[in-house]
Amino acid sequence: MKTYLVLNGPNLNRLGLREPGVYGHATLTDLEQQLQVKAQELGCQLIFKQSNHEGQIIDWIHEYAEDVNGLIINPGAFTHYSYAIRDAIASVSYPTIEVHISNVHTREAFRHHSVTAPVTVGQIVGLGFKGYHLALIALVEGENES
Ligand code: DQA
Repeated sequence: MKTYLVLNGPNLNRLGLREPGVYGHATLTDLEQQLQVKAQELGCQLIFKQSNHEGQIIDWIHEYAEDVNGLIINPGAFTHYSYAIRDAIASVSYPTIEVHISNVHTREAFRHHSVTAPVTVGQIVGLGFKGYHLALIALVEGENES
């Protein structure tokens, strides 16, 4: 069965509590449960990870290099400055889609730039949790096309 890694970065464990005006009231567990339902519909399986630590995120990207068919990542604030996470994404051959819950382009200037997006197949921003669902569909369908 096709398997995809869903990786959430720093502060995303605070979803539901953290700036609800920006990120909403639903929690990371809610997100993972919704995605699990979607994965069952699509006939694939998901591995969920969340960390507040850059090195841990890099280690997981490497660890699953041979075991997953793709990665959905929300690197949180690391998006804007972590060349190390960018290099980790570039080091693996599976496709990566970057997701942001909020519309980073309507927020502070420092959020407008992603150092990680150039090494992904695409980026989805501002659609809330729906962005993760769409990323999963794109990965699954992309694989069926190839
Ligand atoms: C975020 C946007 C980032 O700028 C921020 O640092 C986050 C969350 C989002 O999902 O909208 O932690 O990645």
